[in-house]
Amino acid sequence: MAVLLVRDDREYLLQRGETLETDLGILEVPEDAQAGEVVTTHLDEAFTVRELRGPDCFAHFERTGAPMMPRDIGLVMGHTGASGGDRVLDAGTGTGVLSAYLGRAGANVVTYERDADFAEVARENMALAGVDDRVDVRVGDITDEIDDLTEEAFDVLTLDTEDAATVVARAPDLLAKGGFVAVYSPFVEQTREIVAAAREAGLSDVESLETIQREMDFDDRGSRPSTAGVGHTGYLTFARLE
Ligand SMILES: C[S@@+](CC[C@H](N)C(=O)[O-])C[C@H]1O[C@@H](n2cnc3c(N)ncnc32)[C@H](O)[C@@H]1O
Repeated sequence: MAVLLVRDDREYLLQRGETLETDLGILEVPEDAQAGEVVTTHLDEAFTVRELRGPDCFAHFERTGAPMMPRDIGLVMGHTGASGGDRVLDAGTGTGVLSAYLGRAGANVVTYERDADFAEVARENMALAGVDDRVDVRVGDITDEIDDLTEEAFDVLTLDTEDAATVVARAPDLLAKGGFVAVYSPFVEQTREIVAAAREAGLSDVESLETIQREMDFDDRGSRPSTAGVGHTGYLTFARLE
């Protein structure tokens, strides 16, 4: 698994053994680098080693498809209960941030990405997160793969694609009894389609949620919700196979 080298407002994500080259000098990350250890460049400039965690994947992965934000991933984890030992089917992989979170939680993930170049980047991202043994990034269009996946009985199905409704319609063939589907969709129209597909497929507990977060600012003048920040991201629709 990769580590972060941190100093003031700088953070670099590198594999152990990799070389960091900055204006502060050159340094090879020790193979046995430990969290909290201070390492120095050839110019004697210090960086602190930090172990990578989920939010670092969002901040530092090479990006292809727009990654899901930690606040929405929190909703996916909380509402599906995805955890160690679960079998998760995910599409599309994109940058792979959701897949990495699921893998770090101990789930075994099969994730489909139709763009081969994106899939290659996602594989490298899984290696950085140390979950390449648990997250299987496959190139393919999920809608073409469904018939070959119906024997698997996944505990959780996570979808972040425009055509998610097509897959939701087949969720009863893909999920284990009691398993959840979670779909991220930026637009209301797409969300309506997903809800309709879930109901039509006979799934239970169908609900769509939007997470709105307001960061608090605390300064000398007073305390209030921040006037800046991210607004709408997407809707999350959950449903369950009885
Ligand atoms: C928004 S990104 C997913 C981001 C991802 N959830 C993350 O957290 O990094 C959507 C990705 O889905 C891929 N995609 C779209 N439709 C697909 C399909 N039917 N099968 C497989 N991949 C698909 C796109 O190429 C894109 O990379």
